[in-house]
Amino acid sequence: MSQDRWIEIPDDIVRILKLWRPTPLRRAFNLEKELRTPARIYYKDESGNGPGSHKPNTAIAQAYFNKKEGVKRLSTETGAGQWGSALSFACKLLGLKCTVYMVRCSYEQKPFRKSLMHLWGAEVFPSPTNRTKAGRLILKKMPHTPGSLGMAISEAVEDAVTHEDTKYSLGSVLNHVMLHQTVIGLEVKEQLKLIDEKPDIMIGCVGGGSNFAGFTFPFMRDKIEGQDVRFIAVEPAACPTLTKGPYRYDFGDTAQMTPLLKMYTLGHNFVPEGIHAGGLRYHGMAPLVSMLFNEKLIEARAYHQTGVFKAAVLFAGTEGILPAPETAHAIKAVVDEALRCKKENKEKCIVFNFSGHGNFDLAAYDAYIGCKLKDYEYPEKAIKIAIKSLPRVD
Ligand SMILES: Cc1ncc(COP(=O)(O)O)c(C=O)c1O
Repeated sequence: MSQDRWIEIPDDIVRILKLWRPTPLRRAFNLEKELRTPARIYYKDESGNGPGSHKPNTAIAQAYFNKKEGVKRLSTETGAGQWGSALSFACKLLGLKCTVYMVRCSYEQKPFRKSLMHLWGAEVFPSPTNRTKAGRLILKKMPHTPGSLGMAISEAVEDAVTHEDTKYSLGSVLNHVMLHQTVIGLEVKEQLKLIDEKPDIMIGCVGGGSNFAGFTFPFMRDKIEGQDVRFIAVEPAACPTLTKGPYRYDFGDTAQMTPLLKMYTLGHNFVPEGIHAGGLRYHGMAPLVSMLFNEKLIEARAYHQTGVFKAAVLFAGTEGILPAPETAHAIKAVVDEALRCKKENKEKCIVFNFSGHGNFDLAAYDAYIGCKLKDYEYPEKAIKIAIKSLPRVD
């Protein structure tokens, strides 16, 4: 917690970040050409580290400070598997043990993410498990649940509070995670300056909000000071936290173990459909992103997964990099905005965050190509029920 504008990054962390940072800012010339848009499209490519997403930016810092405090083991949840593999990697580098509760449907959809975590020395369990009280209670009520991030968080928190040598580590949502991720946007600022560009539109996908926040927050000050720049947060229609959830206090996890957070939420009991963007299946949203959305400083939109995969395949076919299904949500919005520029004949500068690669998501791409993906709309009725479960705060 700090009220300082700048926080120094310790040299030991900088040395590790230098393994893959600064990350490239690329221009998607081929995509522009394919869309025949006058827009200039850039993407910040966060996929080039070991675990292959933005998550190590905070995993390294969290493992470093825990190590300094004498902690021996970190427990955590993972949705898509990127966060779990990032923290396993960080723990490996810093000499800590790591226990990962992986949302059951992702555990089954993406077995190779689990292999990566094992390779870096972590233990991984499909959540909900029988190892924790929270997990046992959930399994009693819902034995066939696909799991959710809220459930996996409850298990990881319980694991930490019941073991002296263990602390819990969260991969998104909380303020310190947003702070660690701002290294992304700070680099983008410098890179755009080098080529004399200013963004008109910045786009990122949102699960708990960390890659979007890290990418856009360094530009937020410019907007508050009057610069004409739009920020678009993109989420799945199957988990429409910002676009359909109320702005209220709620728990960050299913078993109600976390402090209350003021955020857009679909309710801590919400269990989203097993869409392939596992990292976007979270019922809540970072309080900082929520506040900015409430203040109308950012926009939000929700897409169905088939449209998202179509945009991802277009991107892979033009730029040669396979996006993670989470990242593909941002790409769908980029394509829509670029087509709007074409219609209106406007030469806008669109920059998006390429939050991770999809090399472990080939089963999802196979399902898309084989026309086996389904779209899910989260029903209004379910939202009304979920709101009833929210804690009362006077
Ligand atoms: C590649 C990728 N992008 C985005 C996200 C969403 O998380 P956040 O909103 O915290 O960036 C995840 C989460 O697992 C992810 O793996």
